[in-house]
Amino acid sequence: MRYSGAVYLSSKLWFGATSPTSLKSLMSSKSIAAKHTKEAAAEQAAKRDRQEQTWDRSSHSFTAGDAKKGANLFKTRCAQCHTVVESEGNKIGPNLHGLFGRKTGSVEGFSYTDANKSKGITWKEDTLFEYLENPKKYIPGTKMAFGGLKKGKDRNDLITWLREETKK
Ligand code: HEC
Repeated sequence: MRYSGAVYLSSKLWFGATSPTSLKSLMSSKSIAAKHTKEAAAEQAAKRDRQEQTWDRSSHSFTAGDAKKGANLFKTRCAQCHTVVESEGNKIGPNLHGLFGRKTGSVEGFSYTDANKSKGITWKEDTLFEYLENPKKYIPGTKMAFGGLKKGKDRNDLITWLREETKK
């Protein structure tokens, strides 16, 4: 009798421990939840590191990109305010013909802000690369209403196209 009593008891414990409700309460117990949060946080940190590494490769300085993609970027992101064609003059923004090698704010007849005029750098691949990521950061007070191209690859593609087309 003692034996069957023990079997009865242990089977009761067993079923008790593995019944769906007690499993659920086990899963949601604090220690498991905390472990999951920790793991998730570690995973996110690793993901962020990987992203930053890829980001870094394309966002430190100019490297030649895809001019065709750049043409499309100009058309969709810049052309409502700028042209690269000399004879088309200024629009909302100054004409970009001859941009490379020219000082900021030097297009005749365009009414620049003082901020743009007095920036005092020469437009070339690297200055454009930095400017176009965040124009308002590079030239605080500029009136150019453009948020920036955050992806280094987009800036590379656009600048690759610009340096050819602004010469023609
Ligand atoms: C909403 C209109 C607008 C858009 C869009 C825009 N710009 Fe501009 N841009 C301007 C204006 C206005 C200025 C003059 C800013 C000032 O005087 O503060 C300017 C200035 C510039 C300058 C400085 C020129 C110089 O002579 O110093 C460059 C370079 C430039 N823009 C390139 C671009 C490129 C490339 C794009 C697209 C990625 C772009 N802009 C998108 C309006 C715009």
